[in-house]
Amino acid sequence: MNYLVPSILSADFCELGTQLDIIGKSSVEHLHVDIMDGMFVPSISFGMPVLECVRKRTDLFLDVHMMVERPERYVDEFMRLGADGITIHVEACDCIYKTLEHIRSLGGKRGIAINPETPIEHAFPYIEHVDMVLVMTVHPGFGGQSYIPECYDKIRSIRSEINKRGLPVDVEIDGGVRLENLKRNLDVGANMIVTGSAVFKGDIENNIKVFLSRMKQEA
Ligand code: DX5
Ligand code: ZN
Repeated sequence: MNYLVPSILSADFCELGTQLDIIGKSSVEHLHVDIMDGMFVPSISFGMPVLECVRKRTDLFLDVHMMVERPERYVDEFMRLGADGITIHVEACDCIYKTLEHIRSLGGKRGIAINPETPIEHAFPYIEHVDMVLVMTVHPGFGGQSYIPECYDKIRSIRSEINKRGLPVDVEIDGGVRLENLKRNLDVGANMIVTGSAVFKGDIENNIKVFLSRMKQEA
């Protein structure tokens, strides 16, 4: 099943509630929530109070992407504030199995994320312990960047490894996704499509409609 996952990093934060309502009325089921700590990535995004507000405003699945060093420090708090899934980076955590198991024990979906420069094989040991693998298709830290084409092969390779093991694991991609490269990403095996600027810039309702109809055509 393919899903469009709008990333609120590109939202207008003065209008966040209204923009969440627009997404809530569409047939999108997930919302991507980017947490940045200024250490793992150069930028700082937002944290607990924003997640708490978003949770109060929407029933969408909150897919929390932790671009944070030692994310294990925050799992309890983010789950308490309403995360439905938490994704940690393979590059940022020294106790990955334990942290993934902790997320699961709190009822969360578990994700493992991998940066563009990290070989995709580094995600292989975790495939049986996650619900999703997130392949970063830009260098994490900012919205609106260009897609890194070398990532197509990584997506193909993780999808084939997941299929080989017969596991129900999603492949999420994040960064630089536009209508122009959507088909190729779906073709190589991505099924959770994060889009920040491509959804939030301009007419959100219409952008979502166009993306969803393209995704249907490709299914
Ligand atoms: C980047 C974030 C992304 C970002 C994607 O580090 O993880 O989720 O919002 O934005 P676009 O779709 O504009 O590249
Ligand atoms: Zn993200």
